[in-house]
Amino acid sequence: MDDKQDFVELGRRLFAGETGFIWASSRLDNLPPMQGLEIAFAGRSNVGKSSLINALTGRKALARTSHTPGRTQELNFFRVNDRLAMVDMPGYGFAAVGKQKVAAWTGLIHDYLRGRVNLARVFLLIDSRHGLKATDIPVLDTLDQAAVSFQVILTKTDALGPSQLDQRIAETAAVLKKHPASFPQIIATSSHGGAGIPELRAAIARLLAERGA
Ligand code: GTP
Ligand code: MG
Repeated sequence: MDDKQDFVELGRRLFAGETGFIWASSRLDNLPPMQGLEIAFAGRSNVGKSSLINALTGRKALARTSHTPGRTQELNFFRVNDRLAMVDMPGYGFAAVGKQKVAAWTGLIHDYLRGRVNLARVFLLIDSRHGLKATDIPVLDTLDQAAVSFQVILTKTDALGPSQLDQRIAETAAVLKKHPASFPQIIATSSHGGAGIPELRAAIARLLAERGA
């Protein structure tokens, strides 16, 4: 087995165990105690963050999903094992919930991303049908400024043809070049079809190995 295959297998095993919900926080002074590393899933409302957590864990309704944006309203923490927790974040860029909520969520998202000591990597989800949007830029800037390593995941690739997807990847990579905290490799996924899920699990297993966790 080559190195790449090893991590695919490690990733499979990592998510084959029992995963569970541990905590929901709507305020930064109410985060769960840190145990092991955390990875966070961030992105605009409705890009498919909660669906991706379900696809990773192979569970249909571990994280709550919805057709309408604004479903996830708190930081939801899920334990993968005693070395790793995943955080499903509220989406940003969705105005219809009202100004106060937008301000509260945006503050929470930025504060968490900037300040969580055991945050090993942020997975920034971009809907492959739409690409990076203006509302993504402040989050990219926060991650750069806080030097929090982030990796872009394209979601919903089942909705695109292969050449459209190649074009989206190239265009996204060109923007990421200007963002020093970004991880160069983009992962193309479909939570519905399962594309890219083994690769994402492998990337997470590799990250844990690199951090000695
Ligand atoms: P908020 O919590 O509101 O920020 O949304 P979210 O980013 O958690 O999105 P969620 O997982 O709730 O999914 C939003 C919508 O996108 C739902 O209707 C999902 O069925 C749909 N969706 C998620 N993943 C995929 C996918 O891989 N392919 C397609 N075609 N649709 C998807
Ligand atoms: Mg959600």
